[in-house]
Amino acid sequence: MNTKYRKTIVAGNWKMNLLPSDVKNYSAALMKLYGKNHFCEAVVCVPALMAIPMLRALRGSKIAVGVQDVSAEDSGAYTGEISAAMLADAGVKYVIVGHSERRRMHGETNAMIAKKLRQVLAAGMTPILCVGETLEERDGELAEDVVRLQLRSALYGLTGLDMRHVVIAYEPVWAIGTGRTATPAEAQQMCEGIRAAVRKLFGARVARAVTIQYGGSMNPANAAQLLSQPDVDGGLIGGASLDPEKFYQILEAAKE
Ligand code: PGA
Repeated sequence: MNTKYRKTIVAGNWKMNLLPSDVKNYSAALMKLYGKNHFCEAVVCVPALMAIPMLRALRGSKIAVGVQDVSAEDSGAYTGEISAAMLADAGVKYVIVGHSERRRMHGETNAMIAKKLRQVLAAGMTPILCVGETLEERDGELAEDVVRLQLRSALYGLTGLDMRHVVIAYEPVWAIGTGRTATPAEAQQMCEGIRAAVRKLFGARVARAVTIQYGGSMNPANAAQLLSQPDVDGGLIGGASLDPEKFYQILEAAKE
């Protein structure tokens, strides 16, 4: 982390877990733990159905609400889709874009992800752009190329001003939900590489200010070490965010 230049953001990603009836207890527990001391920006990314109840439940707290996907289109005949305008109108602040589970299981391409990212920005929300390599790509020494391509195709054509509202999450696919975490050195190396790629596209000032999270089996036991790396500015947390106590412990690890 480097809080002088950029915001530390710790975001939970519930994925397809918990129920609307869990929102009340979860939010109450998290607000009790994280009500007074704010070490960093805390975000809970819930299934879209739970966004409005979560916003209501967290009202008065500084904990932000995000969701996990958005339509690439503005509005119209797109059955089952949810637009960025709908989310923003409801009060949602963050949208995860390009999560590897969506890339892999829902066929999301870099081009679709670029469109979604622009939808989120146009609606005044903050996209959390996920990038990361598979194990085969890492073993084949392609990790940096893959991540650079994901970044370039998502960010190309944006302005430096747009970039003030973009968060990047480095999530090695082999570390997601596997219990196998990248070492702090591995996380640092790639996050540093991501910052260098942003520098090349947008210049040093923008690169210095962009928040880069690490995601992939982050938990209360490994969070402090990962977050102590100079280019790791937060976390995107799946499994461990389902328990408000554990999620809070990770937020606490972001305390300098
Ligand atoms: P995990 O998921 O913490 O359960 O590994 C991280 C993510 O996919 O964002």
